[in-house]
Amino acid sequence: MIRVCFVCLGNICRSPTAEGVFRARVQAAGLSDHFEIDSAGLVDHHAGELPDPRTRRCAEARGTVLTHRARQIQPADFARFDVLLGMDAANMARLARMAQDTGFAGTLARFRDFDPASPAGSDVPDPYYGGPEGFEEVYDLCDAAAEGLLATLRARFA
Ligand code: 4NP
Repeated sequence: MIRVCFVCLGNICRSPTAEGVFRARVQAAGLSDHFEIDSAGLVDHHAGELPDPRTRRCAEARGTVLTHRARQIQPADFARFDVLLGMDAANMARLARMAQDTGFAGTLARFRDFDPASPAGSDVPDPYYGGPEGFEEVYDLCDAAAEGLLATLRARFA
């Protein structure tokens, strides 16, 4: 069992999209029993909410229904999860600090680094204050990175 948590700022746009597309790929690969998949935000501003309506609309148009309820990441998450994936440089800086504070023994990585087509250190850009095309881009970037992440992690079962 590999426990994976995607992390962004608010947990209503990028990380629930990443969670949803990765779960869909895991299901399609028949590996659901091998994964626990979740997402969280660094802030609690939207705790308890469904993903942003623009995020849900975009994902549903691509066949991915998002039902996650936003939550803020907790110190206990650093004991629970094996892999934490940040969406951008600011997420990574905060996660690295929390990982140090909690003695995180797992893997902290930048999500887009699993997309072979992305230059190292690429962000999944925050779409919150932009137009609808930003949400489409987030979906595409998350789906590409999810494919690479699954390929990397499933090597552990080979
Ligand atoms: P997310 O996007 O981090 O991808 O969920 C955001 C959502 C909400 C806010 C910022 C980013 N906000 O400032 O409320």
